[in-house]
Amino acid sequence: MAARVVVTRALPEPALAALRAGGTDLWVSPDDRVLSEDELHAAVRGADAAVTMLHDRVGAAFLDAAGPQLRVVANVAVGYDNVDVEGVRGRGVVLTNTPGVLTDATADLAIALMLAVTRRLGEGERLIRAGARWAWAIDFMLGRGLRGKTLGIVGYGAIGRAVADRAGAFGMEVVHTRRGPGGVELGELLERSHVVSLHCPLTDETRHLIDADALRAMRDDAYLINTARGPVVDEPALAAALRDGVIAGAALDVFEDEPDVHPGLLGLENVVLVPHLGSATVETRTAMAELAAANVVAVLAGNAAPSPVFEA
Ligand code: DGY
Repeated sequence: MAARVVVTRALPEPALAALRAGGTDLWVSPDDRVLSEDELHAAVRGADAAVTMLHDRVGAAFLDAAGPQLRVVANVAVGYDNVDVEGVRGRGVVLTNTPGVLTDATADLAIALMLAVTRRLGEGERLIRAGARWAWAIDFMLGRGLRGKTLGIVGYGAIGRAVADRAGAFGMEVVHTRRGPGGVELGELLERSHVVSLHCPLTDETRHLIDADALRAMRDDAYLINTARGPVVDEPALAAALRDGVIAGAALDVFEDEPDVHPGLLGLENVVLVPHLGSATVETRTAMAELAAANVVAVLAGNAAPSPVFEA
């Protein structure tokens, strides 16, 4: 009998073609939306493989619904905080993610956000679209330059290092939190940095890493960039800090309760808000989907997954 593969949201065709070529019984969610928990659990019933998105909760209820024949969960993201890793491992199921292929796209977006917030691009765009009268003036809508400034990178994995590489082109000095040469404690990084960019995974240790105290430890002319995961930042505390001038600005790609955004952020001029676009290029999303498909095909064929989160 053909292996049943469930894809919880439409993927680029090359990835689906790879799954079909594996001779699978493929089910792809027909709806371009997030499945409810009930829909998700109904969809994965009897699946040998599940290709999941970062908004799908993969916990005990999901695994129970799928059943004991489930062999692989292929998450289409490098982050897998939506997955109960120990629960998956405990059932002998392989978990895979998509590292590497989204490093450049995400690093590019972090730099784009840094420029957008320090040069007030969101504000400028809103001003023009609102039809406001404006004229060039020596002191009109001034931002901050980056040359000679310090960029603090929290989480010095592949994406953090790619951001550091790019920062060199802007003449920035980089500090980071990795233990070893060049690494500093978070407190020192927050105190020194003109821009703090988050690139750590969401774990119990990093949830609300940037809370009211951390924000107070930052310079009052500093900017916070988050392309990691929303809950790394205490969003109400950030909204208050931005409102009260505790820090100069922030640019966020990710939110605590996506797709909702804390209402206190929505009316502020000194925050740039974009909807989880870190990996959102045609090339990158296609590569992510293809890697997820390759993981499924490999595991179903009895081979090692190309990018496992852990070795089964
Ligand atoms: C990831 O891969 O974890 C990203 O957030 C997807 O954009």
